[in-house]
Amino acid sequence: MNKIIVAIDGFSSCGKSTMARELAQQTGYIYVDTGAMYRAVSLYCIQNGWLNDSEMNESEILANISAIKIDFKTNNLGVSETYLNGKNVESEIRTLEVANGASRISTLGFVRRELVRQQQLMGLEKGIVMDGRDIGTVVFPNAELKIFLTALPEIRAKRRADEMTRKGELVNYEEVLANVIERDERDQNRAESPLRKADDAITIDNSNLLPAEQTEILRTLFAEKTFS
Ligand code: DC
Repeated sequence: MNKIIVAIDGFSSCGKSTMARELAQQTGYIYVDTGAMYRAVSLYCIQNGWLNDSEMNESEILANISAIKIDFKTNNLGVSETYLNGKNVESEIRTLEVANGASRISTLGFVRRELVRQQQLMGLEKGIVMDGRDIGTVVFPNAELKIFLTALPEIRAKRRADEMTRKGELVNYEEVLANVIERDERDQNRAESPLRKADDAITIDNSNLLPAEQTEILRTLFAEKTFS
């Protein structure tokens, strides 16, 4: 069976990571969450005082970008976790502050170029499932299987609000929806590598799909590409 590259792109809160992680587990492929890499850079910049709600110190970030080392290690439950300069930051990068920072530093061309370079190195041997916003368009334009995952903003907001409620957070659905729409806007309209569907990507709208139905669609697409 030939090894391929699977690129999964799409809007925030569509379930890209869940889909990518599951496919990697089923196939023995490496899973790379590129959003986690942008989040790790954001965390590093916040910790060093170069990034806050009102300011982004581009020259410090540029001067220090090569000092930021990001790795993924699998924990004893088989789940991939993010490491920043050798330290496990998996839970620290999941906060709203870090997410908002990631959304801002991901507009910087030199940050994107460095992370894309690292992502391309990870894919040299193929056998990889990578999710993000620019994987099928910029990181691996020759990926054998490209998925563009989408769902209605209202449905994504509801899923995210439910998830936050389960974690015990106080949630206002309207605010979550506004945040989803704002992030869609920024992802699609930034100058550097905006989110867009690659011409040869297959769109999956999971607004009305059960998780098992989505899994089945992906398995079929993967089998078509690897058994031919
Ligand atoms: O998928 P996520 O929410 O973890 O991503 C965090 C931020 O990083 C998000 O604002 C979009 C950005 N991002 C990006 O610009 N390119 C990628 N390949 C992955 C994420």
